[in-house]
Amino acid sequence: MAIRKRIFGAVGVVAAGALTLGLAGCAGGSDEENSSEPVVDGMTTVGFVAVGPEGGWRNANEQAVKDTFSNAAGFELKYAPAASPSDQQSQLDAFATFVNEKVDVILLTATEASGWEDSLKLAKAAEIPVILLDRGVEAGEDLYVTRIAPDNYKVAYSVGSWAVDTFPEGAKYFVLEGVPGLSVVTERNEGFDAIVSAVPGFTKVGAQTANWSTEEGKSVIDAVLEANDNDIQFIFAQNDEMGIGAAQAVTAAGLVPGTDVKIATIDGTRGALTALAAGELSFVAQYNPFFGDVVFDVVSKTLRGDAVQSNISVESATFDSAEAARAALDAGLGF
Ligand code: AHR
Repeated sequence: MAIRKRIFGAVGVVAAGALTLGLAGCAGGSDEENSSEPVVDGMTTVGFVAVGPEGGWRNANEQAVKDTFSNAAGFELKYAPAASPSDQQSQLDAFATFVNEKVDVILLTATEASGWEDSLKLAKAAEIPVILLDRGVEAGEDLYVTRIAPDNYKVAYSVGSWAVDTFPEGAKYFVLEGVPGLSVVTERNEGFDAIVSAVPGFTKVGAQTANWSTEEGKSVIDAVLEANDNDIQFIFAQNDEMGIGAAQAVTAAGLVPGTDVKIATIDGTRGALTALAAGELSFVAQYNPFFGDVVFDVVSKTLRGDAVQSNISVESATFDSAEAARAALDAGLGF
């Protein structure tokens, strides 16, 4: 496998380099050989086809990846955020560039689930392993090494089981969805519906995307409350930012968030935990962004040629009260 050969080559070089350095140390040698800077050709190049600025969760996750694949750790990370959170073409272009540059491994967080087959086949032909972060793609599992993410179905199922416990008689509810066409949106709906749709008394008034944004979360719920004469008891927001927008809409309608309308969200940002501590949100399911170490482990194993599970899920927590939120904030769990 070219990569292993190159890596092996690089390792050889480093060892030789180190050796040279050692000798050079003894025998003098050039400035470059004696510098403490890692030898560039000994670096493992990682191409990160990322989403870029999109909210609290995205910032935390992409920073965790950047912190992990540092120069000091022997990596050259090429970070390519999308032109916008829904601009797939810029991601496809960055992916193709990484294949042409013969990076050692590609990390991909897709802005869309479909449209990746050809790119993945190109990488496979070039023997460049691809590791999916957070979001899945509609392509054969033989075209990528693994997907690393918290289990979206399980995380959303925890929201559903909280709702069933909280509303034993059922409730009229609305769902704020993330960007359409994403695996996480589908998986979160499946996990939530798996438990709520089986319980009598739960009436789904509707669902609409708010594109992960607070502003859109507010404007969608403004319209929903008006259209339903404020007769909504529960809102499931697929991420924190939209949920915080929903709470603003509930307040603007003269209702009390957490009392008249209960709101549950997914992510676990500092903003959401603070709103939960204040009683404006009622439940927050963490979608743990801190899995840089897991990605590092998978990259190392893959480049060594070791086998890796085809799906790796990252553990996440849930917060169901103001006390739990305060404890989480004190423990620095918010991001
Ligand atoms: O793909 C994960 C989702 O993307 C997060 O839940 C959301 O906040 C982000 O924008």
